[in-house]
This record gives sequence, C-alpha cells and structure tokens, in this order.
Amino acid sequence: MSPKRNVAIIGCQWGDEGKGMVVDVYAAKADMAVRFNGGNNAGHTVVVKGEKTVLHHLPSGILRPKCRCILGAGMVINPQVLLEEIDKLTSRGVRITESKLVISPKSNVIMPYHIRLDTAREAAAGSAKLGTTGRGIGPAYQDRSARTSLRFGDFVYPDALRSHLENVMPEKNFMLKNYYGVEPFSIDELFKQASRWAYRLKSFVGPAEDMVREAVEKNKRVLFEGAQATMLDVDHGTAPFVTSSNTIAGAICIGIGLPPSYIGDVIGVAKAYTTRVGAGPFPTELKDEKGDRLRNAGNEFGSTTGRPRRCGWLDLLVLHYAKALSGIGSLAITKLDVLDGFESINICTGYRLKGKMIKKVPARISEWQQVAPIYKAISGWPGTVRNCKRFQDLPREAKNFLHFIEDEMKIPITLISVGPGREETILRRKPFE
Ligand code: GDP
Ligand code: IMO
Ligand code: MG
Repeated sequence: MSPKRNVAIIGCQWGDEGKGMVVDVYAAKADMAVRFNGGNNAGHTVVVKGEKTVLHHLPSGILRPKCRCILGAGMVINPQVLLEEIDKLTSRGVRITESKLVISPKSNVIMPYHIRLDTAREAAAGSAKLGTTGRGIGPAYQDRSARTSLRFGDFVYPDALRSHLENVMPEKNFMLKNYYGVEPFSIDELFKQASRWAYRLKSFVGPAEDMVREAVEKNKRVLFEGAQATMLDVDHGTAPFVTSSNTIAGAICIGIGLPPSYIGDVIGVAKAYTTRVGAGPFPTELKDEKGDRLRNAGNEFGSTTGRPRRCGWLDLLVLHYAKALSGIGSLAITKLDVLDGFESINICTGYRLKGKMIKKVPARISEWQQVAPIYKAISGWPGTVRNCKRFQDLPREAKNFLHFIEDEMKIPITLISVGPGREETILRRKPFE
C-alpha cells in the first residue's frame, strides 16, 4: 500500500490527556474520525470559541462538517446516552445525518442491567472497589467475552432484541436480585424502552468497518481516536485497576478489523504532568498542596463523573511503556499552562523497588504498589505560556522542559497545548504530513 495518511491518537497515561482536543485539532483536515474501543466511560472535551462540548461516544471529529464519524465494532455503546449526545448537538445546529455518523452492527450494546450490575458490584466491593465510571462497561465487555452480548445490528430488530432479552434476563435478574440484593428488571419494560432507542438509531447502522478499511486503502485522512489510555489497558495496564477493553494502538486492528500493516502514524498524548481517576497505583501522585495546585489550575475534575482527579508529576517510565506498546512515533504534550508558575518541576525518570533502581514499569500489582519515583528536577518558568502561538514564543525553561522529554523519549513532540481552546495549540508538524 502507498504511504498511509491515517493517524492514531493514543492516551499514554491513565486517561484524560486531552485526546478529544487533539482529535478536534487534527479533524480540521480529516475525512474520517473513528472510535474503536470503550464506551461512555470516555469523556472527551472539545472547546471551540469558549464553548465546551463533552463527547462520550461520538468521535471528536463530529464538530467538523467534512469529517465522517464511525463507531466501530470494538466499542460498547449506551443507546440512550448516544441519543442524548446526538440530540444535544443537533439542538446546537450540528448536522448528524446517516452519512455523517455510522454505527457498526458488530458493536455491543450497554443495557440498563449492565449499569446496575456495575454499580452493585462496586458497592459490594466496599473499600476494594475499582472506582469504575459506573457506566456498565465491565459487565458489557464481560458479555462480549462470554458470547452473551447484544450486538447493535441485532438490537435494532425488535424480534432479535426480544429474544435476546428472553435469553439473558433470567441469569441477569438472578444475579441482581439474589446475589447483589438489588432490583431486577421486567423484560417487558426493558423491551419497550430499548425498542424506542433502537427505532431511532436503526438508520445509523451501516458497514462501518468496510468504510474505514476502504478509506485507508484510498489513502484518505483517517483519525483513530483512542479512549482511555495505555495504563488502563485490560491486559497491559495496572490490572485489576483498569478498564475492560484494550486501549493501545493494536486495539484498532481488533476493534475495526484493520490489518496491522494499515496503521499509519501513532501519536501519543500525554499531559505535562499525570492524573488518574479511580483507584490503583500512581507512583508520582502528589497528596500535598502541589497536587491540589495541579488539580485547581488544571481543573482536574472528571469529564464523565465529575470526580476529582488524582494529580502528580510527569512519569517518563509510563511514557516509555506507552511508546513501546503502541509504536508511538511522536508526542502531543497537553496542559503545559498548568505548570505555569511552579518554581521547580519534577519528572520521574526511574523507580526504586526494594532498594534497586528500575527503568521499566513492573507487571505485578504488588510491585506497582511498592515502587517509589526517582525524579529529575527542572526549573519552572515565570509568567504564563497561555498566549504562546509558536514554539519559539515559549519561555526558555518551558523549552528546556520539552527538550528534556524529547531527549529522554527519543521521539519529537509535534503538538503542544497551552490552553483548552482549539486554537491554543502549537503545531510543530502539520497533521497528516
Ligand atoms: P480526554 O479524555 O483525553 O479527551 O481528555 P478530557 O477531555 O477528559 O480532559 C482533558 C481536559 O483538559 C479537558 O477539560 C480539556 O478541555 C482540558 N485541556 C485540554 N488541553 C488543555 C490545555 O492545554 N490546557 C488546559 N488548561 N486545559 C486543557
Ligand atoms: P477517557 O477516554 C480516565 C477509569 C475509571 C476506573 C477504571 C475502570 O476520557 O480518557 P470503567 O468504567 O472503564 O470500568 O472504569 O478506568 N476510566 C477512565 N479514567 N479517563 C477515561 O476515559 C476513563 N475510562 C475509564 O475511572 O478507574
Ligand atoms: Mg476524558
């Protein structure tokens, strides 16, 4: 195949790196934006002329009129939430037609019982809970693996929907009522409710994967929008404190059915520091006033659940791992402005584990919980980077900070974000070139 112009946008840390913002910037020049994993556990924020849009299922290319949006087979989709997203955008004048949005018939439906199972399981786990988003993601993917999931292409046909519910509900209701002690569902009520969603969404179902594959073959500008991030990957993240899907670049091949050789550039998105929502290891977490300062300056409250995000310093071991797993060729560093005014900034370049220095992240959760960060201190900068339009406009110390990351990571930083707005980005290389 000739040169590949598609670009994958992958989160390097524990999510919320600004993937939505990067996709929105790139989508100005894209023919297609594709979600391939996750569901509405994702919250991707786009800010245009001060107006904030948080997307949960729809790719962040939805605000660009020429960009077709695809929800791929690897996703789990809550039809009610998707309809709310569509309605909200439509009321603001965004045109979402069947040629603009295509849903894979192979994607999996998140049903109300998945959500109830998710929240009941978390409540039953007490202090051992994972801190999920409570959106039914785990139970929905569990059904996919157990081969008991409701796929979108069946969901939109009343007969198939009804027979699916008849098949699965006895077991779901048994678990809800007898194991978790919460309300079961009436099949009739569920059917009535779900049929209404299905009726409205049916016309959006189409040959999503073929469209993506053909677009790549025709060398169109395709964007793959990762949800969640490397350290939340179900296999490679900090399990069990992870989501239930794969999040690394390889997930595009599975989630869309795209040959590995078709993947083009992979851009890793990382904040200039680190955040995490929910439970699990976070070696560079700051539980002091510096952490509070990052949270307040970065407005680090979840886009999906509103929970305060845990904050800490940038961790290069995590970035090296993300680079290795996804073949990241360049970085987008976001939220540089949040470090404005820090006298000194720490960057983690190694961990100490049982008295020894290690340069790679561990595999076992017990080791993750024991590692201590080793830092390199870098001088901060006075004033703000907020209004910088070009790399050369940045203060010397901010350039040093970015050069240090490039030198350590051995890949270039091609996008720097200095504010939430679409235009507050410094592009060092044009998209798709
Ligand atoms: P995603 O899940 O990776 O798409 O990221 P989220 O949208 O959940 O979280 C990123 C948050 O940071 C959003 O509120 C963005 O509007 C905001 N944001 C993105 N880039 C910047 C930046 O450069 N500076 C600041 N201050 N905020 C940013
Ligand atoms: P975006 O795409 C940050 C976290 C949850 C929890 C764990 C499991 O916006 O970056 P789940 O509901 O998936 O079963 O929760 O994963 N999590 C995210 N954290 N950003 C996300 O998505 C996340 N999606 C899931 O907080 O710790
Ligand atoms: Mg998010």
